[in-house]
Amino acid sequence: MRRRPPALLSQVLAVNTLLIVATVFVASVAARLDLKSADGLHQFLVVAAAIFATVLANGIILRRRFKPLERLVETMGRVDLSTPGVRAERQADEPADVERLREAFNGMLDRLEAERAGAAAAVLRAQEEERARIARDLHDEVNQALTAILLRLQASAADAPEDLAAELAETRALAQQAMDELLRLVRELRPTALDDHGLVPALRSQVTEFGRRPGITAELDVDDDLPDLSPDEQLVVYRIAQESLSNVARHADATHVTVSLGRLPGGHVRLRVADDGVGLRSPSPTPGTGLGLAGMRERALLAGGKLDVRTRALDGSGTVVELAL
Ligand SMILES: Nc1ncnc2c1ncn2[C@@H]1O[C@H](COP(=O)(O)OP(=O)(O)OP(=O)(O)O)[C@@H](O)[C@H]1O
Ligand SMILES: [Mg+2]
Repeated sequence: MRRRPPALLSQVLAVNTLLIVATVFVASVAARLDLKSADGLHQFLVVAAAIFATVLANGIILRRRFKPLERLVETMGRVDLSTPGVRAERQADEPADVERLREAFNGMLDRLEAERAGAAAAVLRAQEEERARIARDLHDEVNQALTAILLRLQASAADAPEDLAAELAETRALAQQAMDELLRLVRELRPTALDDHGLVPALRSQVTEFGRRPGITAELDVDDDLPDLSPDEQLVVYRIAQESLSNVARHADATHVTVSLGRLPGGHVRLRVADDGVGLRSPSPTPGTGLGLAGMRERALLAGGKLDVRTRALDGSGTVVELAL
């Protein structure tokens, strides 16, 4: 491992000490200090004590002058782009150089955050567009083909012998099942209910659909006085609820899930998805394990909201996903 170079403070102190000692040495040579005599020795001790006191005072003063720089470095180390908005604060005793460094650092954070938000927005937009395209293709092409098959089967069954008609009816039921599944997939890919009916009905149909799964019940609680949300914010709420429910189905082993949409003090909207399942295996799932949680965080961030995913009960059971917008 590479050794850390000495701190700037130690380097300045070392140079100062060297200069002081060299100056005193030159001065004592010039003054012809005689160390062999008792007088000379006494003078030498006084000079040595003076050097020691000077270096000490120098150290104390320098440490104070370097303090703002140290605090700034600490703040820089704490900055985390996943919780944006943190900036290095102005310090009372800040020298001009540290002020410039702080301003440059804050400016760099502004640019990084804007770039990150732009990139995340582009990815999410591309994802939504791709979903819409796939949903359209599935709906227009595959659904049409299945409908044609269903109609043909119906026509064939009408003038088929009895035993063949029964088999055709069974095939028709299978085709119908495939079509229902396809339409469900299309609805999941592109929540047209959101465009057509608004957030609450779209959430309601999502939760009702989810509750149809065997072994789990689902309920939706909605406050009456919800503030208005923009179409983008509605999409964020809808997608986060969707991913949370999909996680409940895949990981939670839960018997009940509650989705609630309410108003927080201060006019914020809160979406909460709480299950009674096995809970998160670690207190906060490691970033990068799946795309789901990371995607939810990105969406929340873009809409200026905050996402919190935590275990519900003290015994580690249940999971709560909470979005505040
Ligand atoms: N409701 C939940 N109950 C228990 N564990 C959960 C729940 N939600 C998430 N987790 C845990 O958090 C991890 C990360 O979830 P995330 O949605 O990011 O990834 P994923 O579901 O595994 O994959 P992806 O969503 O990308 O298909 C999961 O693997 C799971 O272990
Ligand atoms: Mg997931």
